[in-house]
Amino acid sequence: MSRAVTVVGSLNLDLIVGVHRLPGRGETVVGTRTGSSPGGKGANQAAAAGALRSGVAMVGRVGDDSAGHSLIADLEARGVDVSAVLPTSGVPTGTATIAVEDSGGENLIVVAPGANHALRPADVDVPAVRVAKVLLLQLEVPLETVRAAVDAASGIVVLNPAPPQALPADLLDRVDVLVPNEWELSQLAGEPPRLYEPRELAAMSRRVTLGDVVVTMGARGALVVQGTREPVVIAPPVVTPVDTTGAGDCFCGALSVALADGLGLAVAARYAVAAAALSTTGVGARGLLPDDSTVRTALTG
Ligand code: RIB
Repeated sequence: MSRAVTVVGSLNLDLIVGVHRLPGRGETVVGTRTGSSPGGKGANQAAAAGALRSGVAMVGRVGDDSAGHSLIADLEARGVDVSAVLPTSGVPTGTATIAVEDSGGENLIVVAPGANHALRPADVDVPAVRVAKVLLLQLEVPLETVRAAVDAASGIVVLNPAPPQALPADLLDRVDVLVPNEWELSQLAGEPPRLYEPRELAAMSRRVTLGDVVVTMGARGALVVQGTREPVVIAPPVVTPVDTTGAGDCFCGALSVALADGLGLAVAARYAVAAAALSTTGVGARGLLPDDSTVRTALTG
């Protein structure tokens, strides 16, 4: 059976602390609130895709502990096939400590991978990976596992290089669409982190890969770079963000379902920009994951 989107990646328990402003290096700030919620870039992307379409599967590992089982249950309740998410004894479920600014929702994240680093190449040799129309990956699981999944894929391969690390050229060659944020792209291109103009981001994208790139630019929307074509900037709908955690994950999930539907890259990116903008109006990495009709309304409104 063909599957729309399969996500290979991480599942984390997010421990969230609200702050008036993010701390600097070596600085202590006092939090304003605490909470926990399901997270992990992979699972967030699967949850976002599952909110938009049926036929989404997740492949990953959690600890055989209460956090791990609750992460599986959360995804399952969102309609995601979790039969390839494996509870693993002897390692804890991955956790992420996230500071979120009370005003504007900017965040800072530290991840302890736990069971995510136990995801082996053999774990991704499953039908959900082989038959997916779109295989969606990030870098919170071992690179050798990412590579094995890419090798097994028969559909479109989308890679969100987060957190960024040096990627072998032969792996990048197998990626159809690379989806970094601005900071991740500058890291991959060996450039200092700063605010870049879209034309500078397009030049960096072309240096990093010959394949298609969609750069997520936060409140500036997204930039679509396809070969020698003129790069396209897609502005987001106007929203009032309360928490930007997971907005990039929602973007990746939405982009992948749109590509699985057969949409062209720029049209798919427009759909994903709207979905990601809407997702920032709720608290937490999966605070408000829009359904398909909400995204379509935002696109026409
Ligand atoms: O992209 C946001 C996610 O990054 C969080 O949910 C956290 O778990 C980390 O993986």
